[in-house]
Amino acid sequence: MTRAVVGIIGGSGVYDLPGLANLRRERVTTPWGEPSDELCFGELGATQAVFLPRHGRGHRLSPSTINYRANIDAMKRAGVTDLISVSACGSFKSELFPGLFVLIDQFVDRTFTRQSSFFGDGCVAHVSMAHPIAPLLSARIGAAAKAEGIDHIAGGTYVCMEGPQFSSYAESLTYKGAGYDVIGMTAMPEAKLAREAEISYATVAMVTDFDCWHPEHDNVDIASVIAVVQKNSATVARLLARVLTDFPREHEPCPIGSDRALDNAIITAPEARDP
Ligand code: ADE
Repeated sequence: MTRAVVGIIGGSGVYDLPGLANLRRERVTTPWGEPSDELCFGELGATQAVFLPRHGRGHRLSPSTINYRANIDAMKRAGVTDLISVSACGSFKSELFPGLFVLIDQFVDRTFTRQSSFFGDGCVAHVSMAHPIAPLLSARIGAAAKAEGIDHIAGGTYVCMEGPQFSSYAESLTYKGAGYDVIGMTAMPEAKLAREAEISYATVAMVTDFDCWHPEHDNVDIASVIAVVQKNSATVARLLARVLTDFPREHEPCPIGSDRALDNAIITAPEARDP
């Protein structure tokens, strides 16, 4: 049996996790460099939690300069078994309105400047990303949202762009035409690295805007994103508190194997691997 430890990575406007008891901040170093900030350890009820603000407190890091490998490695070293990623997103559908929480189930990765694997230098692995989200973890977030009466929808495809500039009108129409639901700048390679680290991972994306395709809404800008995040910050805190309060003591084995993703993924012969 493995004790469950829930990691939470907060996105733009989410720089701390209110309500944690026995708070302790710790700077963790990793072979991949510095995480975005100190890890914040605490407890809610019987659940152990570890919080990390993805952009650092004060929002110092852009989506392209975040050290995703260090962040995930730090979470792994902290014993995190289940990782909840919180992020703001733009919407490509009229029915996905600002303030709604989308429990993502698929990603399209359009990033191109980021280190997206722990493997490749002396040891090669190819993990499956067919189903990037751990279903039980996502279902727990859905159950918590339902219990708290929070507007949410289960399922949605998140396209991750490089940024930091927002999309052009033509790009926005292209993504919408492809059937994607929402867009953000940070869930990738985070989800890939969590899979390589054998951590169950789920994304809850808060809709903040309609990007720039919608004829009846203003084009996205950062002021409107932050305004929506701030308006909903208490709801995010309530959602996470409920997830943590109701979390089981033992880590539940992931039905799609995200917590044992390396079992059949390493191709390098044992004798050829770097020590
Ligand atoms: N984050 C929030 N809104 C966004 C948008 N429209 N595009 C990319 N990232 C976002």
